Amino acid sequence: MTSFKASSCNSLNGSIKVPGDKSISHRSIMLGSIANGITNVSGFLEGEDSLATLRAFQQMGVQIDRMGSNITIHGAGKYGLSSPSEPLDLGNSGTSIRLMSGLLSTQSFNSQLCGDESLSKRPMARVIEPLSKMGAQIESNESKPPLSITGNQKLSAINYTLPVASAQIKSCLLLAGLYAEGETCIVENITTRDHTERMLRGFGYPVNTSNGQISLIGGDELHACDIKVPSDISSAAFFIVAASIAKDADITLNAVNINPTRTGILDILALMGANITLTDERVVSGELVADIRVCSSELHGINIPQEFVPLSIDEFPVIFIAASCATGETLLTGAKELRVKESDRIKVMADGLTILGIENEVLEDGIRIQGGEFSQQNSVIKSHHDHRISMSFAIASSRSKYDIKIEGVDNVQTSFPNFVELANRIGMNIEEI
Ligand code: S3P
Repeated sequence: MTSFKASSCNSLNGSIKVPGDKSISHRSIMLGSIANGITNVSGFLEGEDSLATLRAFQQMGVQIDRMGSNITIHGAGKYGLSSPSEPLDLGNSGTSIRLMSGLLSTQSFNSQLCGDESLSKRPMARVIEPLSKMGAQIESNESKPPLSITGNQKLSAINYTLPVASAQIKSCLLLAGLYAEGETCIVENITTRDHTERMLRGFGYPVNTSNGQISLIGGDELHACDIKVPSDISSAAFFIVAASIAKDADITLNAVNINPTRTGILDILALMGANITLTDERVVSGELVADIRVCSSELHGINIPQEFVPLSIDEFPVIFIAASCATGETLLTGAKELRVKESDRIKVMADGLTILGIENEVLEDGIRIQGGEFSQQNSVIKSHHDHRISMSFAIASSRSKYDIKIEGVDNVQTSFPNFVELANRIGMNIEEI
């Protein structure tokens, strides 16, 4: 088991590019594989999660060539996938298993989807139930992976209001809807990330969106296209917070995806008083991109508006680190989903913050954090093998006098393989031990 030793640092400076967006990388493989023609992807995230998706489609017979972050997908067409000889192992990746469940019921073969210990504990009823209503046949281990999906099913379209704000459920049903008879319509009362909708349009598939309703008609084909994956704001978030809480910082993060369904972190930090500027906004492969400059700031606590929760769902662990360095109290509610991510991110973060000397109160659907100082020496934090927990506590070192040890950091590889290298390049002091 690898650990981080994160030590205090003096100043943070420089200009870096964090790796490609994880959500977009997954989707590029899925849509490229079922499209007609050759899709070239650049800036693909070479993390374990997106590579799990890539390998799964290779196992289903799709020719996918990879040279680092450049990928060529020889699309097999909507019905061109073939039966894998083994269960598809999706590792730690919830996005892979939930989105692929939507694609597989109509293929000409049965499939089994499984993953690691953390994925095997994550709720799948949220996709099994609506897919079953469409006509899918899926068996599970008490609504958790592994999933056994019976192929050759005829699906009918669904009109479905999302019971939880989840882009994974929405995307799963849209992918199933590509194969269903009729018009699938998903209603979301709270906006979630819309990469699937954008990328489907990039592949020439008509998708209608208005007033929180997303609909498409099954039966059309996808046409290959080239995709430039922008940098992942969820990875940039670690350094945005590091520079905001460090005493002396001026950093720039280049070509970051600022899709408005992902920028809750920027809005939340702005409300807390952060010093963040966006420059050179442009559109790349249907996604909005900008360079983000972040300088030191004096943050203050806030009540986080609930509408920002799905727009920053993956960033809360590091937002809690920002809140720990703010003056006054920060309150988060309406974020129960954090309890069913790669770990229970409310409990695991609260335990770690307590170890570092930060007063907090766990709520059923959130947390109350009293800003203070990382005042404890010899702190050892357990990450529960959750990548974002590991990186968040490493970021705390940009404001801590004392070393922080974080245990079980191997899963940082799932989303941000060069995290340590980039962190140290801007002046942080993180060692793998
Ligand atoms: C993702 C959606 C989010 C997010 C996950 C990636 C996606 O999950 O937490 O890391 O790519 O669609 P939910 O939509 O279930 O909240």
